[in-house]
Amino acid sequence: MEHVTFNNGVTMPVLGYGTFQTPPKITEKNVTQAIELGYRSIDTAQVYGTEPGVGAAIANSSLSRDKFFITTKTQTDGYAATAKGLDESLQHLGSDYVDLAIIHWPTANSLDTYRALEDAYRDGKVRAIGLSNFNGAQIDQVLANAHTTPVIDQIETHLFWQQAKMHPYLLQHDIVHESWAPLGENFGREMMALPAVTELGQKYHVSAAQILLRWLTQQGIVTIPKSTNTDHVAANFASTNFKLTATEIDSLRQFDRHHSIKDWPQSMREANY
Ligand SMILES: NC(=O)c1ccc[n+]([C@@H]2O[C@H](COP(=O)([O-])OP(=O)(O)OC[C@H]3O[C@@H](n4cnc5c(N)ncnc54)[C@H](OP(=O)(O)O)[C@@H]3O)[C@@H](O)[C@H]2O)c1
Repeated sequence: MEHVTFNNGVTMPVLGYGTFQTPPKITEKNVTQAIELGYRSIDTAQVYGTEPGVGAAIANSSLSRDKFFITTKTQTDGYAATAKGLDESLQHLGSDYVDLAIIHWPTANSLDTYRALEDAYRDGKVRAIGLSNFNGAQIDQVLANAHTTPVIDQIETHLFWQQAKMHPYLLQHDIVHESWAPLGENFGREMMALPAVTELGQKYHVSAAQILLRWLTQQGIVTIPKSTNTDHVAANFASTNFKLTATEIDSLRQFDRHHSIKDWPQSMREANY
């Protein structure tokens, strides 16, 4: 597995396993299967209710905790609630640290929320801290007020919304670009049926989904596809086993629609930043 290196030196696998909308009851089973297929990076969040299942799958695997990269996301607002919420996440995950804690979405009190993340980082409860669903202006505010530069911004990114503005912004600020909904959630079928995508799949003997994921990871964009289908989980993990050419990567830029598949949050509308 390829890795990216954060601005604080910590490394993260370029491809991991997402758990959004995974029913909590089957999370442990699904994550255990993902681990058996080779995944080491798992994306969870307080609001998903999947932290206990992720923690159980890791505890029951034959691998030590340091072989995994666990991301969680706050659903709290402000300093005190966030500090408490992070401690609860550690309990749910059965670990004394998370590898990455990010603010799930911006709020009026994001700077206070971020301060709680900074203190958890200082205290060794998290190895890296970052953001999700923050636009450039919102990140500028964090940079102007914080002591610790965020390592990552996890934002909706896929063929239909390529983040042509945020990607260069993040590169310029040494913040890793991470994609959520890399397969476009419900728009996946439409993306995967595009001849430009299926033809690349035929050339490399891979699926359209694998082309869409490789197109992201080859641009240094970390991604965390979610699937409950074993064949898909395995195929997604194998998507780093081939390489597109630079021309092929550029050839898919024409499909950018410059907007979200669900218009959430509104501050992320490309016209707003
Ligand atoms: N920060 C945020 O605000 C935020 C928001 C949304 C998501 N996320 C994170 O990002 C992760 C990924 O995003 P997502 O779950 O929303 O969407 P996604 O990964 O883009 O799409 C998931 C859909 O793609 C299908 N799929 C997966 N692999 C496939 C393959 N190889 N071939 C065909 N279909 C495939 C899945 O169906 P099958 O189960 O049938 O394979 C599922 O319906 C989430 O799980 C979560 O961890 C973060």
